[in-house]
Amino acid sequence: MAVLLSTKASVMQDWKRALLALDPGLDIRLFPDAGAPEDIEAAVCWTAHDMAELRRYPNLKLIVSMGAGVDHLLRPPGPPPGIPVARLVDRLLTSAMSEWVLLNVLRFHRQDQAYRAQQAARVWDELPAPATEATRIGILGVGALGSDAAGKLGALGFQVMGWSRREKTLPGVRGFHGAAGLDAMLAQSNFLVCLLPLTPDTRGIINARTLALLPRGAFVLNAARGGHVVDAALLAALESGQVAGTALDVFEPEPLPADHPYWAHPKVVMTPHAASITIPESVAPQVVDNIRRARRGETLLNLVDFAAGY
Ligand code: GLV
Repeated sequence: MAVLLSTKASVMQDWKRALLALDPGLDIRLFPDAGAPEDIEAAVCWTAHDMAELRRYPNLKLIVSMGAGVDHLLRPPGPPPGIPVARLVDRLLTSAMSEWVLLNVLRFHRQDQAYRAQQAARVWDELPAPATEATRIGILGVGALGSDAAGKLGALGFQVMGWSRREKTLPGVRGFHGAAGLDAMLAQSNFLVCLLPLTPDTRGIINARTLALLPRGAFVLNAARGGHVVDAALLAALESGQVAGTALDVFEPEPLPADHPYWAHPKVVMTPHAASITIPESVAPQVVDNIRRARRGETLLNLVDFAAGY
């Protein structure tokens, strides 16, 4: 029985090597060279893979996302009926995401762009220093990623708030949940950080209405999915000064078209979906473990809840 890998050609061999290092007996097929469809029992795939294609494999037992997000696997037509999907929860994936969040929170908080502009103009001028302890950061999504970022921002002295669908308690984080909780948190967020899964409920959550609830001059960070942001609303909020700056790692579509206004916008800091990149060696143990569990019919790790959408 074989494992189908499907991702960018540039990383396919790294994935294969990492999985074989843990289980040299694995029969790994690199898409599109799947071989006999009956052989495939697990598919480990990333965003470009067409879920309709997976219906070709009659013995498929498991689909694994190559990242934390699974929206690419769940959107129509979705995985073949009855086949479980697992996502990745990984220490390095999580800590890299927190680094991106800290980098961009501190970039705006410490007025790095203004100081860089001053440097370019050889201007020696001290700007008013913002008070960290008076700065509130609202995190949308306090799962594996959001809770790690929350702890690290708290350690720096920020006031950290976290919003989730259902009530959740995290040490040192003021919790908000549900629709009313969202508005209450937004009204106090000097920084808004989106680390949510993309689901029908969270699509467009950063929109004209929610941006207007932020204190004027807030900063918006999105490293979740481009679909969380209504781009026209964010651009309008940047224009009006309601939002003072934004850091974006994710876009819809990706790659972001060359003529998109974000590229040249002075208040936009962009990275090309590079905030946190899966390291195959780091995640291989959970992938191999899940393949073994699927073969034995055991409970899977990091199983996606289809009803919740993540
Ligand atoms: C990256 O976008 C991921 O979902 O891991």
